[in-house]
Amino acid sequence: MTRHLITSALPYINGIKHLGNMVGSMLPADVYARYLRLTGHEVLFICATDEHGTPAELAAHAAGLPVAEFCARAHAAQKAVYDGYALSFDHFGRSSSPQNAELTQHFARRLKEHGFIEERSVRQVYSPVDGRFLPDRYVEGTCPHCGDERARGDQCENCTRVLDPADLLHPRSAISGSTDLEVRETRHLFLLQSRLQQEVEAWIDAVAGTWPHLSTSIARKWLTEGLHDRAITRDLDWGVPVPADTWPELAAEGKVFYVWFDAPIAYIGATKEWAEASPAQVSAAGGSPAAAAAPADPRASFPRRDWRSWWYEADDTVRYTQFMGKDNVPFHTVMFPATELGVREPWKKADIVKGFNWLTYYGGKFSTSARRGVFTAEALEVLPADYWRYYLVAHAPESDDSSFTWEHFAASVNKDLADTLGNFVNRTLSLSRRKYGDTVPAGGAAGEPEARLGAEAARLLAEYEEHLSGLHYRKAAAALRSLWALGNAYLAEKEPWREAKTDPEGAALTLRTAMNLVRLQAIVSEPVVPVTAGALRAVFAPAEGGPVQGDPGGWADATWVTADEARTLDFLPAGTPFTVPPLLFSKITDADLESYRTRFGA
Ligand code: MF3
Ligand code: ZN
Repeated sequence: MTRHLITSALPYINGIKHLGNMVGSMLPADVYARYLRLTGHEVLFICATDEHGTPAELAAHAAGLPVAEFCARAHAAQKAVYDGYALSFDHFGRSSSPQNAELTQHFARRLKEHGFIEERSVRQVYSPVDGRFLPDRYVEGTCPHCGDERARGDQCENCTRVLDPADLLHPRSAISGSTDLEVRETRHLFLLQSRLQQEVEAWIDAVAGTWPHLSTSIARKWLTEGLHDRAITRDLDWGVPVPADTWPELAAEGKVFYVWFDAPIAYIGATKEWAEASPAQVSAAGGSPAAAAAPADPRASFPRRDWRSWWYEADDTVRYTQFMGKDNVPFHTVMFPATELGVREPWKKADIVKGFNWLTYYGGKFSTSARRGVFTAEALEVLPADYWRYYLVAHAPESDDSSFTWEHFAASVNKDLADTLGNFVNRTLSLSRRKYGDTVPAGGAAGEPEARLGAEAARLLAEYEEHLSGLHYRKAAAALRSLWALGNAYLAEKEPWREAKTDPEGAALTLRTAMNLVRLQAIVSEPVVPVTAGALRAVFAPAEGGPVQGDPGGWADATWVTADEARTLDFLPAGTPFTVPPLLFSKITDADLESYRTRFGA
C-alpha cells in the first residue's frame, strides 16, 4: 500500500498569512490529505512555521520582544488560525526546533565531506552604529532597477527582482536607520550548487514527467539559467548555528545558516518532532472542530515514531507530494533537491511538486507588508472556515492567477453553498420530517428517475475522485458542485411536496432517495468542507451515537455505485433516525457585501 507524505510550504513566522498564502499551500495540501485518509490511505501531513532569518528578527524587534519569545507566540497564533480552518496537519512544527538544528548541521557536514560546501570570503554591508553586519532585509534603500525607495536588501517588492544588500542605492540600516554604512570583508559558507547541476537535471528528467506544467516550467527555466553557488550562512543571532566541530572559526564568529538552507530541512525536522511528541501533545494537536463529528480517525491505527521510514531509505511505498506557491517552486525543484543529492545519503525527494499561481485581490497583489487583501485570521471573523475553503478550492489559481473580489466570493457562496447544497439538504430533511416524522421513511420502489440519479452520482463521483487524485482542484470542486446540484434537480423533477398529496409511497421513495444523496454528500464533501460534512454526518447519527446501520460511513460505501448495476441510492435504510440541522450556510446580503468592502478596502 502506498503511504502518502504530504508537506505544504512552511509559512514565515512574521505576521498572519493572507488568503493567497493559504490557497497555494496549506489548503490544497489539506484537501488532498483528507481525501487520501478518507479513502483508507496512510497519510503523514506535515507543516511548520519557518522561523529564521531577518524577517523574524525584524518583526521581533518591531514587537519589542526577544526573538525566541516572539516566535513562540507567533507560532501559537498561526497554529490557532490553521485549527480554525480545520487544517488536519499530523504535526505543525517549528523550524527552530532542536530536531531541525541537528538535521541541518548534519546536512551541512555531509555536504562539506563530499566537497559541496566551501568557505569563501565576501564583502558585506557593515554598520558601525549597530555594531554588526547587515544581511538581507537589514539593509533598505533604493532599488537599482526600478528606483523604488523602499527596496530591501534581499528583494525589491516593487519590481520583484532579487537583490544583494550591496546593490542598493542610498542604503540605510533597517535597525537604526543609520546611513553610515561600510562594506567589510567577512567569510561565509557557500553551497556549490554549480557542481550539482547535472545531477539535479537528471533527477528532474526522471521524476518530473507527472508534475503539473507550472512546476516543471519553473524548474527547467532555473536549470537553463544555470545553478549558481550560494552563500548559505549569515551574520545573525537567530538561526541554526554553524557547527563548531566542523567550522570552529565561523562558529566562533556566531554565524548561522541562511533561512532557506534550514527551512526545507524542517520538513524532516518537523516529522521528527511529530515522532518524538508525547501522546498528550499529539491529541492537543488534533483538535480541529471537524474532528468531533467525524468517524474514528484512521490515523490512530498507523504506527508512529518512525520518522526515518518516511524520509530515509524510504522504499517506493512512500509517495511524497509537496504544495507551494510559484515563488517557492525553484527552492523545491532545484535547490533543496541539490542539497538532498549532495549529502550522498538516501533522503526522500519529492515525487510530485504541485505549484500554484497567485491569488490576486481585485487584480492586484495581496501584500503582507502593505496589509493589502484578506488575512486568514480576519476572514474567520467574518465567515466560517468552509465558506473560505470552498471558495478558495473552487477558484484555486492553478493554470493562471485568479482574482479574489468580494462580489465573486459572495456570488459563489450564495449560489453553490446556500442555494445548492444548503437548500437541498434543508428542503429534503424538513419536508420529510413534516410528512413522515423523524426517521427515514419506508415505501415505494425505485424506478427510472432513481436509476438515472444513481448513475449520474456515480459518474460525478468518479470524476471527482479522478480530479482529487490528479490534484486538479478547480475541476474537483466543479464535480463536487455538480454532485450537490443533482439533489435539487432530482427534487425539481419528482416534486415530493406535490407527490405527498397524491402518492405518499412515491413521496417517501423520493425523500428517502434524496436523504441517501445527503448521506453521500456528507461523506464525499469532507475534503473540501469538513465542518459542514461533519454536521451532515451527524444528521443521521442515532441519538445514542452509534453508527448508522448498514452504513459504516466511509468512502468505500460512497462508491457503492460503481459496484452495483442498479445504482440506486439506497444504503441508508428506512427507519434510520435523523435530525434537521440548523441552517448550513447563510447568504451574503448586499449589506454584508458593503460592510466587507469597507472593512477590507476593496
Ligand atoms: N517561508 C517560505 C515562504 O513563505 C516558504 C518556505 S518552504 C520551505 O515563502 F521549504 F522552505 F520550507
Ligand atoms: Zn525594484
